[in-house]
Amino acid sequence: MMNNILGIETSCDETAAAVVSGGTIVHSSVVASQTTVHHPYGGVVPELASRKHLEAISQVVSEAINRSGIPSNQLDAVAVTQGPGLIGALLVGFSFAKAYAYSLNIPCVGVNHLEGHIHSVFLESDSPKFPFVALLVSGGHTGIYHVTSHTAYELMGQTRDDAAGEAFDKVAKMLGLGYPGGVAIEEISRKGDPFRIQFPRPYLDKADSDFSFSGLKSAVRRYIETHDFKESIPDIVAGFQEAVADVLTYKVTYAAMSRQCSRIAVVGGVAANSRLREKVKASAAEKGLSVFIPSLAFCGDNAAMIAATGYHYLRAGHVCSLTDDVYSKVIP
Ligand code: KG4
Ligand code: ZN
Repeated sequence: MMNNILGIETSCDETAAAVVSGGTIVHSSVVASQTTVHHPYGGVVPELASRKHLEAISQVVSEAINRSGIPSNQLDAVAVTQGPGLIGALLVGFSFAKAYAYSLNIPCVGVNHLEGHIHSVFLESDSPKFPFVALLVSGGHTGIYHVTSHTAYELMGQTRDDAAGEAFDKVAKMLGLGYPGGVAIEEISRKGDPFRIQFPRPYLDKADSDFSFSGLKSAVRRYIETHDFKESIPDIVAGFQEAVADVLTYKVTYAAMSRQCSRIAVVGGVAANSRLREKVKASAAEKGLSVFIPSLAFCGDNAAMIAATGYHYLRAGHVCSLTDDVYSKVIP
């Protein structure tokens, strides 16, 4: 039985390791964030990210194993993010994982980061049955998936330009709020009026699951350029957040209903946003749908979700070889 899995994640700016059993029981989950390194630049600097992963990886993995109480000789496999993400960053975790698995004489499995996020809902005690519709909202991706098993997904629609998290980050950068923008915007929004400044809701075709956030981002930029905005930053970010949350909520609810599916999951870094969580829950309650959103620790990048995904791929016989490589974009 491939039961105890060490997960490793280094696709962006978090060095993470975790030990998870059976794809669901989290024994440990360690996340070393680099956000303070990238904060002054208003975004992730890839070269710095790779170097920081290299500095942190051994320590983070040891800590995950120590905290789990499961000695390394009782690990059954290593699961690691293979892509998509920053190539240099991915390579650190992927090379480490292959070497570590080889040294323990256990299999290594490469995991798709996006499938990892979808699996974050299985780390909670109340997890969805199949099928469910998942809204994945992160810094690099925004899409809606119809999930029919642990290894079968259909992409129903995705963003044509910016990811939702990227829009949060870019608006924060415009206003000088630093990186990552989502947390700062959520915090400052609490002091603002979300209805004073009306930003557009980019629904595109209301009957499909595609998104576009660049127009909304430009509307915020135009507002800043044409107003003495310093006093109204809380209202600007609250209005922006409200627009994003409205669109995401509408689209995921619509997508579930269009598939006669009664379960919704919201995953990825932006799923940590409390306004979005509230709105999705309220809309789902109104429509009789059940909602699954991971706890905050499993919304952002973490390795427990990678270990959980790896568990199911290993059971399906997927193992990577020492010559396998990482990928930066989703393989179509
Ligand atoms: O999933 P994640 O940790 O990394 C990627 O796979 O991209 O998502 C990071 C994104 C960033 O864009 C960040 O600004 C956003 O998630 N984020 C939030 C919040 N916390 C993180 N966005 C809105 N509200 C939040 N509370
Ligand atoms: Zn992610």
